[in-house]
Amino acid sequence: DTGLVTYDPGFMNTANTKSAITYIDGDEGILRYRGYPIEQLAEHSSFLEVAYLLIYGELPTGDQLEDWDQNVRMHTMLHEDLKGFFSGFPRDAHPMPVLSSAVSALSTFYADSLDPFDEEQVHISTIRLLAKLPVIASYAFKKSLGQPMLYPDNSLNLVENFLRLSFGVPAEPYELDPDVVKALDLLLMLHADHEQNCSTSTVRLVGSSQANMFASISAGINALYGPLHGGANEAVLNMLRKIQAEGIKPEEFMEKVKNKEDGVKLMGFGHRVYKNYDPRAKIIKSTAEDILNKLGGNDELLDIARRLEEKALADDYFVERRLYPNVDFYTGVIYKAMGFPEKMFTVLFALGRLPGWIAQWRELMEDKTTKIGRPRQIYTGVQSRDYPAGR
Ligand code: SDX
Repeated sequence: DTGLVTYDPGFMNTANTKSAITYIDGDEGILRYRGYPIEQLAEHSSFLEVAYLLIYGELPTGDQLEDWDQNVRMHTMLHEDLKGFFSGFPRDAHPMPVLSSAVSALSTFYADSLDPFDEEQVHISTIRLLAKLPVIASYAFKKSLGQPMLYPDNSLNLVENFLRLSFGVPAEPYELDPDVVKALDLLLMLHADHEQNCSTSTVRLVGSSQANMFASISAGINALYGPLHGGANEAVLNMLRKIQAEGIKPEEFMEKVKNKEDGVKLMGFGHRVYKNYDPRAKIIKSTAEDILNKLGGNDELLDIARRLEEKALADDYFVERRLYPNVDFYTGVIYKAMGFPEKMFTVLFALGRLPGWIAQWRELMEDKTTKIGRPRQIYTGVQSRDYPAGR
């Protein structure tokens, strides 16, 4: 501490943001969107309604929700020139860099409506992003399969359209499974916002330079990609598959984690803020059991996950460090049962988090006291010295 600035390695305790959107109590395991407990929203609301709540601060009336849904449906189509953009990627490209670059590229089609301080332009950008990100995500998935991309069907809502664009093929009609639609809608809602996490802080930092919504959210997508953040859901499934394939006993794996062998971690466990059970993980865990019973997914992986959790919650190493399952621990098992490959899991996280990123970016822009983000440092380099004479 130089008296000028205090050092905080993880930006953990420097609350340099005021926000009225999401409240978390890490010790009590509480999560509320605009004051509504996540458990009640999970039971009664929908992803699109929660997106409205996060962005506008109140639950929509029936008419407002109807308009909101209709508006999103009318903006699902991508400009044909953007479709060419996907052909430039290698077939096995990970969809996350495709997503972040496509969002940046999207803004080039709307140069006349990117002003962060014009209400109408912010509104249309909000609708365009909410409507088009699922389409871009499904195109990245189709590209990786070498399958043709479908056009959106506006008779379907956002989640239904995304499932049809991801799994439908031109050769035959696509039949929606209402259980899958309901489960995915819930998962997207549970990911919708989470206070000042790494990717949201990135969206705010980029936005604080008055960069437009697309540029700020593209940066957020890149931050989410990291395995310690949104990439953890993909890492959890890889971990479960490895344990299953190598026939490792959960207790053997836990020893590796506790001994920090090769830096191995129990992915999907631990959290910068929750030092209690992540309330989202509780809801997702019960959804996992329901959806796997219906879809008949690989419940051996779920069983391995359950046994790891059981061991961890009874093990002093984890209890002392207050490590509990987080939102990523059970989601991958469900996404896999729905038919998504591991590399699409973090894309699904991004689709869910989009309304939160938009809401937080808008709140930042509306706050007239916002200054450009400019964290300070503790200088640890060489003190002043002169350039050698005659060099
Ligand atoms: C998300 O911020 C958000 O809100 C994020 C998120 C959101 O909705 O936006 O909730 C989404 O990113 C959830 C987190 C997903 N990431 C993972 O599941 C990856 C595995 N988890 C860890 O990498 C870790 O728990 C973090 C990064 C999530 C949190 O790190 P912390 O709180 O900074 O913990 P730490 O690194 O200070 O660890 C404290 C101790 C250390 O042990 P010691 O050095 O004291 O011996 O706990 C250990 C760590 O080694 N530890 C773990 C562990 N997480 C922490 N040990 C084994 N497995 C783990 N998962």
